[in-house]
Amino acid sequence: MEEQISQVRKDYLNKISGANSLKELDDIFLDLFGKSGEITLLPKEFSKLSPEEKQKIGPLFNQVKTELESAVEKKRGEVREAGYAKLSGEQSSIGEAVDIKPRKGRLHPITKLEQETIELFGKLGFQQVDAPHIDSDKLNFELLNIPEGHPARDLWDTFYLDPVNLGPQSGKMLLRTHTSNAQIRAMKELKTPIRVMNIGRCFRYENLDARHEHTFDQFELIYIDKHVNMTNLQFLSEYFLKSIFGLDIKVRMIPKYYPFVEPGAAVEGECIFCKGKGCKVCGKGWLELTGAGMIHPTVLKNGGIDPNVYSGIAWGFGIYRIALLKYGVPDVRLFNSGNLNFLENFS
Ligand code: FA5
Repeated sequence: MEEQISQVRKDYLNKISGANSLKELDDIFLDLFGKSGEITLLPKEFSKLSPEEKQKIGPLFNQVKTELESAVEKKRGEVREAGYAKLSGEQSSIGEAVDIKPRKGRLHPITKLEQETIELFGKLGFQQVDAPHIDSDKLNFELLNIPEGHPARDLWDTFYLDPVNLGPQSGKMLLRTHTSNAQIRAMKELKTPIRVMNIGRCFRYENLDARHEHTFDQFELIYIDKHVNMTNLQFLSEYFLKSIFGLDIKVRMIPKYYPFVEPGAAVEGECIFCKGKGCKVCGKGWLELTGAGMIHPTVLKNGGIDPNVYSGIAWGFGIYRIALLKYGVPDVRLFNSGNLNFLENFS
């Protein structure tokens, strides 16, 4: 047994030190600690040992387990650092290179992430619905429980359009500030139960920084049925984040106020750049990825749905923020830069 444990230790320390990608490290981690991983299965054989042997083998096993866990974690850090170093090298060459090689076309990283998202939720029966980029104040704010003069509007300041140029449209028109403008539409146009998503552009009059763009994409999810609750929300957000990031990120759900949900929550991911300490990318160590919650009864009523019979959850994930953490990009504005030196890093 002692020999077997030492052999596992030796073999896997070698594999870990030879790994060059996070994917390889995830596979190694699963081979060791997954359901039928080597380390997971070893203790099953302890029952065959005498009490004296158990006394010796137990501490050795624990020591090797901890050593292998830390070795995977350490190597993950190294692989990530190497990736960032490569990326920042690429960025510093922006504008210097005159590339005359023929270029191969590829999808934008945001498009790829969105396609992956659509596929993930398509599998669970969520259909895509449309909502316009230019929308009424009513659908973007008012019917979502944010009347004219509500202080929450300050968070979503946007670009208003002159209604004279929009022909017969009535009321104030604006560039939508969030994909939540899909909510009332979906409620009015579809029959319950409703399971839909809307992914696309949003616009804000924003103070720009490493995590704030004026034009960015959100992923709205709307799920309305009898007995839908916060557990569904938690399950779906875990499903989403684990599928996108694998085991490679820490996330947390905290309470947050939005006028159109009750209770409301935010999901945050630990910043991969400062590892939770706080930096210019995240501000406070954790990067907000989404707002979410149970759809407010008033909003359900506004959409023609009886809140005494149905309940619903909704969220609006920031796709650009997810992309920051997934690809290790330190500034959200790079995605809209159109800079090929940056975009060519995503094959
Ligand atoms: C909203 O937009 C709400 N509509 C989300 C929601 C939907 C709540 C459904 C409840 C139910 P917020 O303004 O916090 O909330 O934005 C949601 C996410 O969009 C943020 O967590 C962030 O990931 C992303 N986001 C917001 N502003 C920006 C920005 N300027 N640049 C890039 N991403 C942004």
